[in-house]
Amino acid sequence: MAARPVGLPQESDFALDEVELDSPKVGEALVRILWASVDPYQRGRMSEARSYAKSLEIGDVITAANLGEVMESNDPRFNPGDLVVGQLGWQEYATARAGTLRGVPPVLEPPTLALHAVGLTGFTAYFGLFDIGKPRPGDTVVVSAAAGAVGQIAGQLAKLAGCRTVGIAGGPEKARDLTELYGYDAAIDHKSDDVAEALRGERVDVYFDNVGGEISQAVQRRLNLGARIVICGQVSQYNAQRPEPTFHPGLLVVFRARMEGFLIFDYAHRYDEAALKLAHWVANGDIHWREDVTEGLENAPRAFIGMLNGENQGKALVKVAERES
Ligand SMILES: NC(=O)c1ccc[n+]([C@@H]2O[C@H](COP(=O)([O-])OP(=O)(O)OC[C@H]3O[C@@H](n4cnc5c(N)ncnc54)[C@H](OP(=O)(O)O)[C@@H]3O)[C@@H](O)[C@H]2O)c1
Repeated sequence: MAARPVGLPQESDFALDEVELDSPKVGEALVRILWASVDPYQRGRMSEARSYAKSLEIGDVITAANLGEVMESNDPRFNPGDLVVGQLGWQEYATARAGTLRGVPPVLEPPTLALHAVGLTGFTAYFGLFDIGKPRPGDTVVVSAAAGAVGQIAGQLAKLAGCRTVGIAGGPEKARDLTELYGYDAAIDHKSDDVAEALRGERVDVYFDNVGGEISQAVQRRLNLGARIVICGQVSQYNAQRPEPTFHPGLLVVFRARMEGFLIFDYAHRYDEAALKLAHWVANGDIHWREDVTEGLENAPRAFIGMLNGENQGKALVKVAERES
């Protein structure tokens, strides 16, 4: 990070730097990074505002989830050539404590699934929907940023749970993906539709909220009695210097509704459970996914800014290198 972004980040807030690489010490592995993830939470790390994780300082590597191959290992859990995922950064190589890495099963094809549908964004959809949203068959589940990495999985999981699903996304191509690729029963394009009008006649039992702001203000008017609002993220507010309040507490009283936020890292002890189920559904063709790939580490800032602008069609990823082994 070359400068702390103000508002929407600029490419000049980032810089490429070359440094000497450390050899892995006991309990560490040297990873050659193949793929880097681009995620909204990275914007929070660039800010000085109090959050669940320490802010980045100028000169720090941008934290990111990565898929890579082990080049050298000083730990019995990994061997050279193993594919791993870990919280590393936008970089070409990283030395990491082996305990912070997860092995990618060779049967997972393509392995990038471990960065989305069968990785953190899939886990986020799984725990947010099932543990907090508690969908019941016949419920109506509305998802915002529904064609994005988390949203595309959340909608399909709700469908597997026997719910009616309504997805909200920006633009005609994403709206088409919602019904044709991700199986949503109805799609709302928030760029051309009036969201509250489009939801007239719906009674929303579960709202899986990825965006906050005006879209969520519209959805909360259509809640059903006993609705559950899952606060997964508020991406429409991440660049705002003064985030605006979204939910009207009075409506929670009127609808006897419950609203709860969650953080995926609190579910780390249950990742294996989610990974097994998601891998099974993907292999069965019950879950579809779409990746939005940008080539080259030097283009990661552009991919990140584009994602914050809603330009990504699916999970935003940066391809850093080809696999060697
Ligand atoms: N709680 C957790 O542990 C956890 C973990 C992972 C992610 N999250 C949250 O989940 C949400 C989705 O993350 P993701 O990785 O799946 O990203 P994503 O949905 O793939 O990409 C972000 C999307 O947000 C939408 N967006 C951006 N600015 C917006 C605005 N002003 N108004 C409305 N929509 C806007 C855009 O979709 P449209 O073009 O369709 O509007 C954009 O494509 C984020 O809020 C993220 O912080 C939370």
